[in-house]
Amino acid sequence: MASDGGFTGLETGLPACDAEMSLGREQPEQENMTADRLPRPRIPVRVCLLGATGTIGRATLRTLMRRGHEVVCFARRRPGGALAVDGPEIRLVDMGDPVSIALDGFRGERFDAVVSCMASRTGAPRDAWAVDHRAHVNVLAAAQRAGVGHFVLLSAICVQKPLLGFQHAKLAFEAALIAADLTYSIVRPTAFFKSLSGQVERVKRGKPFLVFHDGTLTACKPISNDDLADYLADCLADDRRWNHVLPIGGPGEAITPRQQGEALFALLGRKPRFRHVPLALLDGVVGALSAAARLAPSLSEKAELARIGRYYATESMLVLNPATRRYDAAATPSTGTETLFDFYQRLVDGRTALERGDHAVF
Ligand SMILES: NC(=O)c1ccc[n+]([C@@H]2O[C@H](COP(=O)([O-])OP(=O)(O)OC[C@H]3O[C@@H](n4cnc5c(N)ncnc54)[C@H](OP(=O)(O)O)[C@@H]3O)[C@@H](O)[C@H]2O)c1
Repeated sequence: MASDGGFTGLETGLPACDAEMSLGREQPEQENMTADRLPRPRIPVRVCLLGATGTIGRATLRTLMRRGHEVVCFARRRPGGALAVDGPEIRLVDMGDPVSIALDGFRGERFDAVVSCMASRTGAPRDAWAVDHRAHVNVLAAAQRAGVGHFVLLSAICVQKPLLGFQHAKLAFEAALIAADLTYSIVRPTAFFKSLSGQVERVKRGKPFLVFHDGTLTACKPISNDDLADYLADCLADDRRWNHVLPIGGPGEAITPRQQGEALFALLGRKPRFRHVPLALLDGVVGALSAAARLAPSLSEKAELARIGRYYATESMLVLNPATRRYDAAATPSTGTETLFDFYQRLVDGRTALERGDHAVF
């Protein structure tokens, strides 16, 4: 654990005096409460982390540990990923089984917070309802019984316009969390770097950059793994993030797929070359698979994955203005310092490698 002296406002994202207030030093009872009377947790805290083997979970684990929190990871028996650091306690838990969550996970011990980066690795409806909804409902119930005071949930900005099964599953759990009697922070990030970097290798090999239509149908404010991890960890101490749904993007202006391609060619010192894929082609695939799935239900998962692809080809990862039903870059908050183009530079130089995992449709 970090010593009191080493834990500064810089790390928490709070002014230093505020951070000190939450360090668990001698404080009168009333100073341990925020203006709206929410209890302020002592910092560092004991955290149960879900999804620590995934992309954002690994970054969040590193950040929580660096900040001195005591982290216990609940993971399934055969993880698809790997932990980012040595040191945290790992408990093997079946998230589909409330008894396992209580006995193998919480074990009747005190935890201050749950931070969940757990999500279906495929986004297919059945798995999404099992993981993004049911497993989370199970953990929430056990967490409440264990007296956990705060639940930080990694969700996704796209649930603001739910057209897909996994989005409804996420929304159903968000609603359960909001209704529960504990403090929540629901973080809805924009697009991750890994989801916007799938073409770097093919372009390096001399191929054109593929865009749907003219490459300007959508835009997003990409957020890096570490910047998102910082944002999630800051939710523990920053009471402005308590009991809120928090859309969040990375630094800088919103960028379109065409701008991503142009930046990549510029980094490679090459003239931009695009291949324009008509949306009608994607519509054809979605239509054909959906029709086939009505005859052969085994194809319904493939049809949903095609619908997911179409969603991301046509919907921006920005805040949706409910009045105009238009995406609004200016209304999309930003955090962090790392840009997608910094990441492209590191990929081009070979200083980092792309990790996409099974979640390739996202
Ligand atoms: N990609 C994007 O651009 C983007 C943008 C915004 C929001 N998001 C959202 O961010 C979230 C996390 O994304 P990510 O890329 O970090 O995910 P990821 O790399 O696929 O990691 C998923 C994590 O959940 C765990 N998990 C999955 N099923 C489980 C189960 N049945 N029991 C226990 N653990 C299970 C995985 O464990 P194993 O290692 O055992 O599989 C892994 O640790 C998702 O909700 C996604 O919708 C993504």
